[in-house]
Amino acid sequence: MTAILVLNGPNLNLLGKREPKTYGNLTLEEINGRLVTLGRDLKIEVRCTQSNHEGVLIDSLQDARTWAQGVILNAGGYTHTSVALRDAITAIGIPVVEVHLSNVEAREEFRHTSLISAVCIGKLTGFGWRSYTLALHGLAEILAEKKE
Ligand code: DQA
Repeated sequence: MTAILVLNGPNLNLLGKREPKTYGNLTLEEINGRLVTLGRDLKIEVRCTQSNHEGVLIDSLQDARTWAQGVILNAGGYTHTSVALRDAITAIGIPVVEVHLSNVEAREEFRHTSLISAVCIGKLTGFGWRSYTLALHGLAEILAEKKE
């Protein structure tokens, strides 16, 4: 069975409480629940994890190499700063989709730079929690095509 890691970075554990006007009212647990349910419909195993620590995120990416065929990644603030996360994405050699709840391009200028976009297969930004479900649909199709 195809398996996908949904990996969330710093401060995303506070979703639901954190700046709801920007990030919406759903908690991370609720978003993850929707992804697992959608995964069931798509016949994909979805495993979700979150960390506030850059090294732990890198460990999760490296570990995904051993069991997952793709990754959906909201790297939070590390999107804009982390060369190490970018290198990990390149190193694992499985497709990674960049996701953001907010439309980062419409926000502060420092959020316009993503160090990871160029090494991801695509990016969903600005659709709120739906950025994740849209990413899962897209990744599922790409992985299905690879299997054919
Ligand atoms: C975010 C956007 C980032 O700029 C920010 O640092 C986050 C969340 C988003 O999902 O919109 O933590 O990745």
